Amino acid sequence: MPVELIPGVYWVGAIDWTLRDFHGYLTEAGSTYNAYLILDDKITLIDTVKKEFVPEMLARVAEVVNPEKITYIVSNHVEMDHSGGLPETVARVKPEKVFCSPAGKEGLSRHYKQDWPFEVVKTGSELSLGKWTLTFLETPMLHWPDSMMTYLKEEQILFSSDGFGAHLASSERFDDQLPDYPPDYPHQVKKYYANILMPFGALILRLYDQIAKLGLTFKIIAPDHGLIYRNPAWVMEAYRKWAAAEVEPKALVIYDTMWHSTEMLAEAFTQGLMDAGADAQMHHLRRSHYSDIMTEVLDAGLLLLGSPTLNNGLFPTVAEFLTYLKGLKPRNKAAMAFGSYGWSGQAVKLINQELEAMKLKMAHPGFQVKYIPDPEELTAARALGAQVARENLKL
Ligand code: FEO
Repeated sequence: MPVELIPGVYWVGAIDWTLRDFHGYLTEAGSTYNAYLILDDKITLIDTVKKEFVPEMLARVAEVVNPEKITYIVSNHVEMDHSGGLPETVARVKPEKVFCSPAGKEGLSRHYKQDWPFEVVKTGSELSLGKWTLTFLETPMLHWPDSMMTYLKEEQILFSSDGFGAHLASSERFDDQLPDYPPDYPHQVKKYYANILMPFGALILRLYDQIAKLGLTFKIIAPDHGLIYRNPAWVMEAYRKWAAAEVEPKALVIYDTMWHSTEMLAEAFTQGLMDAGADAQMHHLRRSHYSDIMTEVLDAGLLLLGSPTLNNGLFPTVAEFLTYLKGLKPRNKAAMAFGSYGWSGQAVKLINQELEAMKLKMAHPGFQVKYIPDPEELTAARALGAQVARENLKL
């Protein structure tokens, strides 16, 4: 069934109930690909869905209007979870125009090699549909170069593409319909931000300035994943805090271990963090998914990274996590390395190199033990945990 946002504007997307891996991101609750249909003199479809969900989307459209009556398609974003359905949809609908950003035209052309009737739009471009007007807002690198948002001016609805999205498959379509749904929705919104948008905080703050300058206000924010916000104030405020890299007095101990020596240190550090009154969490990298750890990294003020030395290098899961973390450009955090070794002992140095490359504040030069920590070393690790918490968190 299509779902009405307001009379004449419908959600016609698709629900991906069984999705569990979105290019490496653990989507434990599935996802949706949201597409929207606007009924006006010029009937308009905003975004499509993943290729295999086109029949589901077109069936929803058909419950409102014959898909062949669609005049315009707006493509806010090239990534294939939203554009994968374009070739089939364009072939069926034969739209007069396909609207996209300049980088969108290039990206769609590279993906699909089709001679579609593109019309390139820029920030402030307006398109009259009849009684309603669409205004376009380029949002480059939120989170691809082509990304843009589309605003239904008279009704103050922002079609925000990936912005404000979350991965959740549900029968409900609006945020106010899911007060108690586990896992709680704000957590899914935070996880999405942490894993997709964290590198782009400065651009989000700039977008907020631009929105204020243009005098745009939103009654509804309709993203391309997850629920539609009829009360968008909370999500806009959450994004403002995350974009400003505000942190809590929270410390994460993230590690892997071979024969439990690094794990013994992790436990001692975690105890020390708790001694100091920090909100401490311990994450074993083969038991917590890195996309879940990143949700916690987002507002943590202190990270302790632990690895044994394996074959003169890092334990593979630690190397993988550091690569992922570095790509997401964490800001406003202190960090330190720890680990155990048998003979060569490179792990702490290698972690430090990565922390320096991320320009994180070094909380300590690093703590390592040979083979198995003795009681004095565990006591020292616990004391150091408390010390770095006091020195780097607002406790
Ligand atoms: Fe939901 Fe960037 O695609």
